Amino acid sequence: MPADLTFRNVRVVDGSGGAAFEADVSVSDGVIVAVGEGMAASREIDGRGLVLSPGFVDTHSHDDGAFLRYPGMEFKLAQGVTTEVSGNCGFSAAPNVPGVQIMPGDIVGPGADWEDLDGYFAACEKRGPAINNAMLVGHNRVRAMVMGLERRAPTGTELAEMRAHVERAMEQGALGLSTGLIYEPGRYSTTEEVAALASVVAPFGGLYATHMRNEADRLLDAVREALDIGQSAGVPVHISHHKAAGRRNWGRVRESLAMIDEANARGADVTLDVYPYTAGSGPMNQYFRLDAIDLELAASIRIATCPDHREFEGRMLTDIAEEQGWSLEEAVRAAITGPRGKETICIQFVIDEADVETNLRHPRMMVGSDGIPALNGTPHPRLFGTFPRVLARYVRERGVLTLEEAVRRMTSLPCERFGLGNRGLVKEGYCADLVLFDPDRIADTATYDNPKQEPVGIEMVVVNGRVAYEGGSHTGVGAGQMLRLRRM
Ligand code: CU
Ligand code: ZN
Repeated sequence: MPADLTFRNVRVVDGSGGAAFEADVSVSDGVIVAVGEGMAASREIDGRGLVLSPGFVDTHSHDDGAFLRYPGMEFKLAQGVTTEVSGNCGFSAAPNVPGVQIMPGDIVGPGADWEDLDGYFAACEKRGPAINNAMLVGHNRVRAMVMGLERRAPTGTELAEMRAHVERAMEQGALGLSTGLIYEPGRYSTTEEVAALASVVAPFGGLYATHMRNEADRLLDAVREALDIGQSAGVPVHISHHKAAGRRNWGRVRESLAMIDEANARGADVTLDVYPYTAGSGPMNQYFRLDAIDLELAASIRIATCPDHREFEGRMLTDIAEEQGWSLEEAVRAAITGPRGKETICIQFVIDEADVETNLRHPRMMVGSDGIPALNGTPHPRLFGTFPRVLARYVRERGVLTLEEAVRRMTSLPCERFGLGNRGLVKEGYCADLVLFDPDRIADTATYDNPKQEPVGIEMVVVNGRVAYEGGSHTGVGAGQMLRLRRM
C-alpha cells in the first residue's frame, strides 16, 4: 500500500530543537509513518530547498466563536497554524446557557446552543473546521454565569457552583483554567477565589493560564500573584502575552522573567507566551475609567473595530479627536459610550521592541497571536501575521532565535505544555500536522494599515494528514479535530 503523501528531499526541522536534517517524510491515515527513507506515495512532493516542520500551535487565541463563523480559519491556516488553544484571558465559549447572553461583547454571540465543552466541540465539528482546536475554561465566563457582573466575593454556594463548571469542563477535556484579571468580572475576584478554582484542574493535569491583574506599573505584583496561585493550587502556571506596558515600565520584563526563573529554580513550573508586536489589542471599554481617563493610554490608541463609528476604524484616536475638534477625553467617550460601545476594540502601542526580543530569547517562551477575529474592522495584524513574523523578523533578520529553536517554541513545547498528545514533532507515530515553507522567503505581510493579508513563503499546510493549504490557496479541506487534554 502506498503512503498518502511523501515529501522528498526536505530539510526537516522536527520541532525538538535539534539541528535540521535532510530526509523524506511520509504520511498515511493522518499519521507520520516514515522520516528518513520515504515510502512510495499516491502523492509525492519535491521539497528541495524547503523546510518541513510540525504545524504551528497558537497558544493564545480568541477564536472560540471564529471556529463557528469562519470554519476555514483562513487567517491562521495561512500562517502554518494547525492547532489553537482558545478560551484565553478568562473568556471561553463554554460553559454556556443557550439563549442567554452571559456577558456583554460575548465571545460566541447569540445562537450558541450548547451547554458545555462537549456541546461546543460538537458544534465546531459539524462545521468541518480546517484546523485543530483545544480549549481552556475561562474564569470570567464561569463567574459571569454564576454571579453576573457582581463586584464582590462569591458565597460558598456560588464558589462551589463555579468549581463544578470548571470540573465539568476538565472532565470533557479542557486544558486548564484561564483568567483575565484585568477584565470584568475577573477583576472583582480575590487571589483566594482564583486559587480555589485553579486547584480543580490539578488532578486532571491541567494548567493555569493567566492574563494577569496588571501588566504595567504593578507587573511584578501580578507575577507574584500568579506564582502564589500556582503554588497554593498545585498547578503549573502559564503567563499570557508577557509584557511591560507603558513607556515608564519598558525593560521591566527582565525583572519579571528573573522572578519566573527563580520560581522555576525553586521547583515551580512556569511558562509564558508572547506576540511579536509592540502593540496590544482588546476591548477598549475595559481599559478606561470614565471618571479618570488615562490620557497617555488614549494617545497610544488606534481603533480596530467600532460598530457605532465605522469611520473611526483604522485611525489613531488623536487624529480622530483633532479632526472632530474634540479633546482626547471626548474621543475616548465617543468610542466606548455609544449603544454598542462595549464592542469597540482598540490597538494600543504600549510595548517596547527590546522587550519583545528579551521575551523571545527566553527558553520557556512560546508564541501566541492573541488575535481578535473581528474581520469586519481593521484588526491588529497579529491575527494574520504572528508566526511568519517570528520566523522572518526575529529569526532571519535579527537572529534573536535559531530556526530550530523558534520552531520548537511553536510546536513541541506548547504541545507538551498544554497536553496536546502526540503532536508537535516530525516523528514516526505523530499526528501529521505539517508546514512546508521557504525559510528565506517566509514573511508576514499584514500591517496596521493593511492587516488582513496572508503571509508569503508558506508552500503547504497539512492538518491531520490532509492538505489544507497549498500554493497560496485554501483547499477547503476541513480535517481539523477538537483536541482534549492528553498527557503523553
Ligand atoms: Cu488574550
Ligand atoms: Zn489577554
